[in-house]
Formats: sequence, C-alpha cells, structure tokens
Amino acid sequence: MAGESGESIEIREIIAEQTRAIRQVVLRPHQAAEELIYPGDNDADSFHLGAVRGDEVLAILSMYHQPMPGETENAWRIRGMASVAEIRGQGYGRMLVEVARDRAWAVERAVIWCNARESAFGFYEKLGFVIEGELFEIEGIGSHAVMVLNPTP
Ligand SMILES: CC(C)(COP(=O)(O)OP(=O)(O)OC[C@H]1O[C@@H](n2cnc3c(N)ncnc32)[C@H](O)[C@@H]1OP(=O)(O)O)[C@@H](O)C(=O)NCCC(=O)NCCS
Repeated sequence: MAGESGESIEIREIIAEQTRAIRQVVLRPHQAAEELIYPGDNDADSFHLGAVRGDEVLAILSMYHQPMPGETENAWRIRGMASVAEIRGQGYGRMLVEVARDRAWAVERAVIWCNARESAFGFYEKLGFVIEGELFEIEGIGSHAVMVLNPTP
C-alpha cells in the first residue's frame, strides 16, 4: 500500500530491538528503556512483525507462545500492538494481527490472547476477539481485560 511519501508500507518480520521505539512512544511513555524489553522477546517461538516503510517501522506487534494467566495449556499471546498516529485507521493493525494469527496457527492452532486496554476493545472485537473475565487495572496505563481469539474448527 502506498504511504504519503509514495513509498509502500509492507508487513514484515522485524527483530525485537526494532519494536522498542514505538513501544515507548505509543504504549509506555512513562517507562524506562529497559522496561520495554518484554519477557520472551528473544524466545525461539516468539516473533515480531512491523508495518515498515523503507527502514521506518510504523506499527508493531509481538507474538509469544505463552499460556493464558493461571492456565498451563499452550496458547499464543499478542503484546506490544501499536501504530504511530500517522497510519492509524488504514488497516495496518488488522493486517498485523491477521498475519501473526496465520503464522502462529501454522505452528499450532491454539487460542490467541492479549491484555487489551479498554480503548482498544473495539479494535480486537472487529478481529473476532472476545473479552474473557473481569476488567483489571495496569498501573500507569489503565483499565484492561483479557481478550481471546479461538481457532476456527
Ligand atoms: C489499536 C491500534 C493498534 C489499531 O491500529 P490501526 O492500524 O489503527 O487499526 P486498523 O486500521 O487496522 O483497524 C481495524 C479495524 O478496527 C477499527 N479500530 C481501530 N482502532 C479502534 C479502536 N481503538 N476502537 C474501536 N475500533 C477500532 C478500525 O476502524 C477498523 O475497522 P474496519 O475494519 O471496520 O474498518 C492503534 O490505534 C494504536 O496503536 N493505538 C494506540 C495503542 C494501543 O491502544 N494499542 C493496543 C494496546 S492493547
């Protein structure tokens, strides 16, 4: 897809280090750089996707092979889902989730979950996720819920 500069934006794999600038600016401006390294970032089953224009990363998503809270069954966890304001509402968030979902399910068709912030419930709902359980607070960020996407039979 062509961006404002005319250069196209593509979804591709990036490395964990390439997620950190957007993690900080968009998701956790109150946190220090070392807190932007999430557990499992470099695990063998983890992967990171970006919406990338040239060498500029404009949106990010990270996927981890991690059980849901309090459970032991295999699952996939999305974290660090964010796009810069410039490209929001153009479908890149959806593309990142769909590409990550398909890639994860090619490895194992397990539930995909995330701790969604309340302002993003509508985004995940459009992608088929449903809220599971009660709302909870994450200090400094606000109200969240676990949202899940079950594999289609
Ligand atoms: C949430 C976010 C990642 C969405 O990315 P995006 O690229 O703007 O999303 P898309 O354009 O792919 O939107 C896909 C669909 O969800 C809808 N949508 C996007 N953000 C939404 C939101 N916050 N609430 C409700 N619906 C939303 C879009 O309208 C679109 O609907 P459509 O398919 O009917 O056209 C982005 O807005 C963002 O980075 N927000 C700030 C950080 C954040 O909250 N991250 C999530 C943390 S849990």
